[in-house]
Amino acid sequence: MSQLKNKNGSLYVSKLFGSIATRYDLLNNLMSFGRHKLWRQKAVNMAFQNIDVKGPVLDIATGTCDFAIDTERINSKTNIIGIDFSLPMLKVGIAKLAKRKLNRKINVLMADGHQLPFKKDTFSLVTMGFGIRNFDNPQLALSEIERVLKPGGRLAILEIFPIDNNKVTSRLFNIAFKIAAPILGSIFSGNRDAYEYLPSSAESFMSSGQLSQLTAELGLFHVSSKDLAFGSVSILISQKGN
Ligand SMILES: C[S@@+](CC[C@H](N)C(=O)[O-])C[C@H]1O[C@@H](n2cnc3c(N)ncnc32)[C@H](O)[C@@H]1O
Repeated sequence: MSQLKNKNGSLYVSKLFGSIATRYDLLNNLMSFGRHKLWRQKAVNMAFQNIDVKGPVLDIATGTCDFAIDTERINSKTNIIGIDFSLPMLKVGIAKLAKRKLNRKINVLMADGHQLPFKKDTFSLVTMGFGIRNFDNPQLALSEIERVLKPGGRLAILEIFPIDNNKVTSRLFNIAFKIAAPILGSIFSGNRDAYEYLPSSAESFMSSGQLSQLTAELGLFHVSSKDLAFGSVSILISQKGN
């Protein structure tokens, strides 16, 4: 990790994910006890509740394409585009799509979420799983999302947030995550540094309430939210005005 320092934030993050791409899914399973799949499905279900806007779905920071795959499972009529700036992560995702014969249904593109290569008012839903806290400029990324969403379209964010309650279970979970992530990372991916970054990036990120407020200021008002994993993971659903 040290050779990645002194670069701009985006380059650092893209190299970091590139270095763990082939072990990313395994580590996600281990660190969340397989719960991350249920969390994404829950987020997609919440996002599709009472929505009447039709159109394609964009999964930003798609990584190994899990959020895109879960969206397809819940709404197979939708066309989905996944974007990420890490080619190694996308390569793992592309292999998964091919294995599931989803590569015509879900298209992937290498692009930076700070500058989306799409026209205004294109998507009915934008999803982002464990992505926004890694962005150099979350505000710019959110305003890009607002631009490409159709009026009435939704944004579903699934993210790890700093815990903002004083419950003992939440504090213990947080400590366990901080200790376990680097150990599991070093055993299973050979990259302890990357898995030190993951909990620390969550700790230094804004709270889910602050993100929700920022999102609303940028024109995407709050629809619903849900806390998971003792309040360390949250789903936020927002909607662009008509
Ligand atoms: C923790 S992974 C999440 C992958 C996937 N969404 C999931 O739910 O497992 C974060 C991903 O965000 C991507 N990412 C971070 N900043 C980005 C940016 N500015 N533009 C595009 N992708 C970005 C990384 O390359 C990485 O694949």
